Amino acid sequence: MKIAIFASGTGTNYQAIAAAVAAGQLPQVELALVLSDRPQAPVLAKAAADHVPTVFVDPKAYGSKMAFEEHVLEILQNHQIDLIVLAGYMRIIGQILLAAYRGKIINIHPSLLPSFPGKNGIADAFAYGVKITGATVHYVDDGIDTGPIIAQETIRITPDDTLATITEKMHQIEHRLYPAVLAELTEKG
Ligand code: GAR
Repeated sequence: MKIAIFASGTGTNYQAIAAAVAAGQLPQVELALVLSDRPQAPVLAKAAADHVPTVFVDPKAYGSKMAFEEHVLEILQNHQIDLIVLAGYMRIIGQILLAAYRGKIINIHPSLLPSFPGKNGIADAFAYGVKITGATVHYVDDGIDTGPIIAQETIRITPDDTLATITEKMHQIEHRLYPAVLAELTEKG
């Protein structure tokens, strides 16, 4: 199964998936493309160093979100992508991609959805004072972080924790959870 990872930033989740592929833990997965909406996103250099095809698509270069997504769709079709894996992609997926890839777009979000959707899941949960947070992998629908949940893993927040320690713990569970979910989804076919 050919997957495209969409990412806007650092790309540690990309690295975790790439490492699992390299270690032979995801035999059904071909890491066929990394797409970013930010030209300086470190994930692009990381993927290029791994010899994974990369593409930057500038959302500002198009007159509308539909035109942007039509171009993205063309790129995905050229690479024969089967599954879109959002990993820190900070843009809402619109109708063009949803229609073409319904049920074939997954996202990882750093909170226990449906709590704390949006751009700042870790900080929002920490600021609220919840004692348990976690990571969620879910299918993408047309809401914000609202699609059917595939898997979740929890983290306990203790009085000693800071936003930095929770962020670190979050990344650790994400890097385990996302490859595990991919293994399960791709084995099912
Ligand atoms: C991850 O923690 C991911 O859950 C979050 O962005 C981070 C990306 O890190 N995604 C969202 O907040 C989506 N709403 P990475 O670039 O190091 O993989």
